[in-house]
Amino acid sequence: MKDKEKIWIFDTTLRDGEQSPGASLSTQEKVEIARQLEKLNVDIVEAGFPISSSVQFEAVQRIAGEVGITVAGLARAKEADIKSAYDALKDAKKARIHTFSSTSDIHILGKFGDERYGRTLEEKRQMVIKMTIDAVTYAKSLVDDVEFSAEDAGRTDIGYLSDVIEAAIGAGATTVNIPDTTGYTLPKEFGEKIAELKKRVPNINDAIISVHCHNDLGLAVANSLGALENGARQVECTINGIGERAGNASMEEIVMALKVRGDLVNYYTDINTHEIYNSSRMVSVYTGLIVQPNKAIVGDNAFAHESGIHQDGMLKNRQTYEVMTPESVGVPQTKIVLGRHSGRHGLKSRLVELGYKLSEEEIQAVYEKFSALADKKKEIYDEDLRMLMGDEMFKGFEKYTLEYLHVSSGSNSIPTSTVIIKTADRSIQESSTGDGPVDACFKAIERALNIKPSLNSYSVRSITSGRQAMGEALVRIAEGQKHFTGRGVSTDIIEASAKAYLQALCLKDEYMTNNQDLVTI
Ligand code: KIV
Ligand code: ZN
Repeated sequence: MKDKEKIWIFDTTLRDGEQSPGASLSTQEKVEIARQLEKLNVDIVEAGFPISSSVQFEAVQRIAGEVGITVAGLARAKEADIKSAYDALKDAKKARIHTFSSTSDIHILGKFGDERYGRTLEEKRQMVIKMTIDAVTYAKSLVDDVEFSAEDAGRTDIGYLSDVIEAAIGAGATTVNIPDTTGYTLPKEFGEKIAELKKRVPNINDAIISVHCHNDLGLAVANSLGALENGARQVECTINGIGERAGNASMEEIVMALKVRGDLVNYYTDINTHEIYNSSRMVSVYTGLIVQPNKAIVGDNAFAHESGIHQDGMLKNRQTYEVMTPESVGVPQTKIVLGRHSGRHGLKSRLVELGYKLSEEEIQAVYEKFSALADKKKEIYDEDLRMLMGDEMFKGFEKYTLEYLHVSSGSNSIPTSTVIIKTADRSIQESSTGDGPVDACFKAIERALNIKPSLNSYSVRSITSGRQAMGEALVRIAEGQKHFTGRGVSTDIIEASAKAYLQALCLKDEYMTNNQDLVTI
């Protein structure tokens, strides 16, 4: 075999991943995830879409100043977007502007329907090529590293796609991304598209070919691998495969497929696979998107062997039923337990091992929460610590906090709840009855804040085992097409539920105040 070729890993967890329904991240959470992605050794982190809101701008700016890897900011093919991405990326050690325009007929006719973009499809297509050239040329005048994406390339006619890509490279794009935006293609078809581009685009060797696959048919990883076989050298992906609709290609699956099947494929990535599990857990806790138990590589059951025959085989030789070890992706094999007698130092070093980087002030705040928890619960596991961190990182978003909660319920009484909610300028007390204790508590909160949001889903689960386990509540509310998931943890599940509800309300309010509704042209 020839020397292995490097595959660039472009992580878009903080941009496309954050576009998952319900997944809103605070700036502090994004910074923490970006630091973890740096530990994981991704090549490029796409930190957000700066022009879309002041919060997005600030997150990209903070991440740019925080990490040493390349930071990308997304921009439509418009001068104002590109300028905003550049401004947000100014402090980055390595900055990339990622600009995009739509190329499929269905997108062009839908987004550029107005006659000012041309009367016929052909005129509109030429206008998109001009927009692409202008956007890449402008981005290139600001930074050296420019990526261009042909949105919905998966459904774009190959002849026209070749013309757009040639124009983008001619204008200075150093990476050209071929997204299967709607997750429509099949692996063979998508692979052939990349091979065709290599044949048809005369200047294709002047740029890296990237792919960005969505998972609508469950084929995002297979399509990405098919593209690599045909000449792509950058893959865009997310931790746990989160993203718009059915998500994006999952980073851990791509990276481990290339590693485990190194006998068949001639590529490598620079990912530190031992950090995969920590990254997966951090993203899951902060986004509130639970990893399905049977998810490849990072699901709870990924290395569990249930049947007697399998267990017997495993005891004799692990390779009987395992193609990789849990250790290779950082799944811990021994449970580290902290408790009331663990000091600040012990807590800090475990948090660092779990991927968190904290200031002394943050350590002190987490330590106080840890001590309070250790008083209630003798043994504190990694999952408990991740939950405490989830709480800590939400700081700054807390427009409403729970100051007091009382609930009474029983088999022969009407469930009743009283809450005191602290807002910016006052504390409001309200009570309500309800169908159950959680319903009573939610109704009391709604009365206190004089709101009636549409509640999409509510769930509670236990984080660790045992009677004193922490409960995690997830509450999802909707405002139009947008969903917001709040998370609350406590050894008392009603308190966890109240906190989760308030967090969802804070996220919704923050979004409504700071985001513009962008049309994607
Ligand atoms: O799916 C897509 O086409 C995108 C682009 C902006 C790269 O996310
Ligand atoms: Zn996408």
